[in-house]
Amino acid sequence: MNILGIESSCDETAAAVVADGRRILSNQVASQVDIHARYGGVVPEVASRQHLLAIVPIIERALAEAGTGLEGIDAVAVTNGPGLAGSLLVGVNAAKAIAFARHLPLTAVNHLHGHIYANWLTREEVRFPALCLIVSGGHSDLVLMSGHGSFRLLGRTRDDAAGEAFDKAARILGLGYPGGPAIERAARSGCPFMPLPRAWLPGSHDFSFSGLKTALFHLAQAGQYATADAAASFQEAVCEVLVTKTIACAQEARAVQILLAGGVAANSRLRQLLRGKSPLPVLVPPPALCTDNAAIIAACGYFQLQMGRVDSLDMDVYPALRAA
Ligand code: KG4
Ligand code: ZN
Repeated sequence: MNILGIESSCDETAAAVVADGRRILSNQVASQVDIHARYGGVVPEVASRQHLLAIVPIIERALAEAGTGLEGIDAVAVTNGPGLAGSLLVGVNAAKAIAFARHLPLTAVNHLHGHIYANWLTREEVRFPALCLIVSGGHSDLVLMSGHGSFRLLGRTRDDAAGEAFDKAARILGLGYPGGPAIERAARSGCPFMPLPRAWLPGSHDFSFSGLKTALFHLAQAGQYATADAAASFQEAVCEVLVTKTIACAQEARAVQILLAGGVAANSRLRQLLRGKSPLPVLVPPPALCTDNAAIIAACGYFQLQMGRVDSLDMDVYPALRAA
């Protein structure tokens, strides 16, 4: 069964074709990052206009790369939240138009669930119950997945999301946007010795990164640091907290696997530390499937359709949708 996936929740316009929820036939992403970099972050109105320009060409490219054309598509899956309302609307309306014109089933995908399904696009076997750490620009969630369609939120950030913290730290250190890859690059030549705080929040599986960001800001103001060392120290503080709390949560929830997901999961130090410290098997998708793309939306959509989840053409967007 070939699913056309469409994703436009933030600043990436993406389309993909995935066979049977696991095999990528095409995965096309049009990034707006150079446009938003000028402003140091995503400008919502600019993003939705760019999606409008990019959506039809990116769908055409995905269908051409897959070699299926629209004739070879069996269903359409599209992100309907969380994200920027104006951006989500572009993908959702494109998906509705295709579903209507071709009489295809349509399924709406929660973007955060999509991130988790990156783990189905590898050769690894996923086993339940699995604890998912979703770390993206807007979320740091610990979600227990007991089966397809069964998600329970066990922890979340109380302030900044992990990706947001990386982006703000990069701005403080003058490393540009997007911050995550910039911090990771700078950290490679640094040493993580600087005294930065870790918010452990004992008794809870929640996270907090705003104190760490403020501490970095004060160190930066004092000016007595090398940028590479500050980047390495910041990255280490974020990764140490994410890894330690994820493992504790997985053990308490009696999970049999840990699944890493979301843009920050592309961070090589996070991947290395989690794999090194976890007593449970850890599944980590390749970096290109961690950041926003439409193959993950198509994969999630396939399993939803297997469960009979078909949406009607009056389906709406939900900018503040949660993982569970
Ligand atoms: O999942 P994603 O592509 O979009 C959202 O759904 O938000 O995540 C984007 C976030 C950004 O904050 C970006 O800085 C962060 O993921 N990110 C990284 C890395 N690559 C992307 N953070 C740390 N290290 C990376 N290599
Ligand atoms: Zn995302």
